[in-house]
Amino acid sequence: MAKPVARFVCQACGAVTSKWAGRCETCGAWNTIAEEAAAGSTPGRTARSTAGRAIGFEGLEGHATPPPRAPSGMAEFDRVLGGGFVPGSAVLLAGDPGIGKSTLLLQAAARIADQMGKAGRRVLYVSGEESLDQLRLRARRLGLGAAPLGLAASIDLRAIVAGIEATPEAALVVIDSIQTMWVDGIEAAPGSVTQVRAAAFELIRLAKLRGFTLVLVGHVTREGTIAGPRVLEHMVDAVLHFEGDRGHQFRILRGVKNRFGATDEIGVFEMTEQGLAEVTNPSALFLAERRGNVAGSAVFAGIEGTRPVLVEVQCLLAPAASAPRRAVVGWDGGRLAMLLAVLEARAGLRFGASDVYLNIAGGLRIAEPAADLAVAAALVSAAAAQPTDPGAVYFGEVGLSGEVRQVAQAEARLKEAQKLGFTSAVLPRRVARGSRAPAAPEGIALAETGHVTDLVARFMPRHGENKKGTS
Ligand code: TYD
Ligand code: MG
Repeated sequence: MAKPVARFVCQACGAVTSKWAGRCETCGAWNTIAEEAAAGSTPGRTARSTAGRAIGFEGLEGHATPPPRAPSGMAEFDRVLGGGFVPGSAVLLAGDPGIGKSTLLLQAAARIADQMGKAGRRVLYVSGEESLDQLRLRARRLGLGAAPLGLAASIDLRAIVAGIEATPEAALVVIDSIQTMWVDGIEAAPGSVTQVRAAAFELIRLAKLRGFTLVLVGHVTREGTIAGPRVLEHMVDAVLHFEGDRGHQFRILRGVKNRFGATDEIGVFEMTEQGLAEVTNPSALFLAERRGNVAGSAVFAGIEGTRPVLVEVQCLLAPAASAPRRAVVGWDGGRLAMLLAVLEARAGLRFGASDVYLNIAGGLRIAEPAADLAVAAALVSAAAAQPTDPGAVYFGEVGLSGEVRQVAQAEARLKEAQKLGFTSAVLPRRVARGSRAPAAPEGIALAETGHVTDLVARFMPRHGENKKGTS
């Protein structure tokens, strides 16, 4: 047997080199290259063992049935999965430590165990981070004490694999987390690329062979730099991100890769004393604490994945003591600076003497440019010290010359606004000839806006005449 050769692996991107370097040439990261012993055999070298067997090729016609699904018992989870867990597939649930991954999976696993138990199937939950007692305590706190779950606390992958092999009735296996797993015989620390990849490879192979669903938990650091989840993304069938702000109770489950369904879907949860509760109507929740007649507040009709979500944009202007501050929560600070500049240059407003605070109520993070018009409305409303129409929603992108540009899915946004009892929508004007007007749902009046000056005229009718906010 050849003696193991040392090799150097970038812990950020998984690139392998033969010598150490301070900077990875593949991904450009600094101080991420670590020495790892090469695994004893690589698939390429042992290909000989399959000599004599050859794959066959088939045509496109042939039967293709959609994969069967095992619903998780949580509609918000199923939506992101594309209808439930697919047997024989591997799912990676990635997120910041402490965001609620273990809680979510324990709850889902318990519900599936309840359903599957009747058919003689089992759900296994392996924790490499918590002891059995901690798991039991948590389950009891979540009201899951009686669920027929198979629990184990271990990081020894070979023992775990043997345990799963001895449980042929397993339908779902949760590994929490993949970074804690340790494969005997590989000289690298748990959490290193080599260990994570080897452990995941073993588990995924077993899942395909036995036909159970495998869920791997992966921690991501704030910069998303930890190696594990990155190299795993290519190996699994679906990648879900669990996001949220620990100061807020909302949690968003986002599909970023899914071989069996659409991506970009979100599931919304609320972290409560009894674990994660599903939020079936996120708009209602995000708007629940809105006060109607406050200047500086505007409702944005946004889209998250395929689902419309209404959120409140709040803006506060305060006299600046010295250099004016701009503080943003839930939106892009650069984008706010751009909007302020556009409103100053194109509509003649002045923010130079004010601190500007912008907040997306509820803790949601918004990335859509379509929020521009809602933010502009909140800013103008604050500057004019006049509340926006509490029955109006806003959406549209604002360009550098102050023009309001079209955004996708206008109809879905309008329908959600109607569902929540809104009566009007301020939206981009149709400019392209022949572009179709969004069908206005009953009870919603459309106010088309071509330029930010229209918005200013709405709140400061005499702004052009004497440069002063009036009324
Ligand atoms: P956890 O699921 O352990 O996070 P992760 O597995 O992603 O690291 O959840 C951690 C936090 O959730 C913890 O700080 C406490 C909070 N929490 C609740 O607020 N309510 C609950 O019912 C539970 C179980 C946890
Ligand atoms: Mg955990």
